Amino acid sequence: MRAVGRGTSLFKSGVKGLLGRAGFDIVRSTNNLGGVDDFLPFEATMRAARAAGKSVGDYIDEVMNGTPGATQFTIDELGALGVFAAEPDRVLEIGPGSGRYLEKTLTECSPERYEVYETAASWADYLVDTFGVVARPTAGSSLAPTPDGSIDLVQAHKVFNTVTFLCACRYFFEMARVTRPGGRIVFDVMTEACLDPAAVRAWATQGGAGHDSYPAAMPRRTCVDLFATFGCSLEASFLAPMGVAFTEVLVFAKAA
Ligand SMILES: C[S@@+](CC[C@H](N)C(=O)[O-])C[C@H]1O[C@@H](n2cnc3c(N)ncnc32)[C@H](O)[C@@H]1O
Repeated sequence: MRAVGRGTSLFKSGVKGLLGRAGFDIVRSTNNLGGVDDFLPFEATMRAARAAGKSVGDYIDEVMNGTPGATQFTIDELGALGVFAAEPDRVLEIGPGSGRYLEKTLTECSPERYEVYETAASWADYLVDTFGVVARPTAGSSLAPTPDGSIDLVQAHKVFNTVTFLCACRYFFEMARVTRPGGRIVFDVMTEACLDPAAVRAWATQGGAGHDSYPAAMPRRTCVDLFATFGCSLEASFLAPMGVAFTEVLVFAKAA
């Protein structure tokens, strides 16, 4: 198993940048079930990105999150792990939001079909129009419209630290169900590896205000043990910047 440490300048500058960032506009999605999907307002974010002359993904990375290059960092790590070299033909993403990971995924591989489950309707519509993805009806933690074993790559980024423990766990069952034998499951969670005392202090004093359930922690062992019961083994993990600290990206492979 490959584990990438946090000792890059990106991480250091990311945390530093975040500590100094200005607050930004957050609204509650209309179909929010209780503080789990506070997210960026579509119109205002698009306008601000346009005014800054940046793609919406770069704008979120650089200006809103203060972590320039964070999305590309994760994509590059996944690339180095061979996630895209496997040429996934069917990709499913939970909570793509602005599509910053989706867009970069599509520069690394050319799936025939890309399904999204996104509770924020305005962002889902934008992704359908812009990238030709298929937006599935999204409710709770269900991937019911997607058949068993039909997806090569299932991913979610910066989602399971914004929802409740049970919402994330229920999605884990579904992610394993829809992944084909030999397929991969990629997601990040805020594990113990992301919660040393300095990080906890930073969250308590600098981060998360107004986000309700964000940031939610998830024990790493819980994920590894649960996915093992689905025949999915942990192939690799690495830390990626999030807010004032990090999440841990876990890469699982489902037994062929
Ligand atoms: C913090 S944002 C991350 C968005 C995107 N992945 C990114 O990193 O920029 C969390 C996303 O998950 C969506 N979301 C929240 N609850 C969800 C649920 N139960 N099912 C699917 N998407 C959900 C939100 O609308 C939002 O787009």
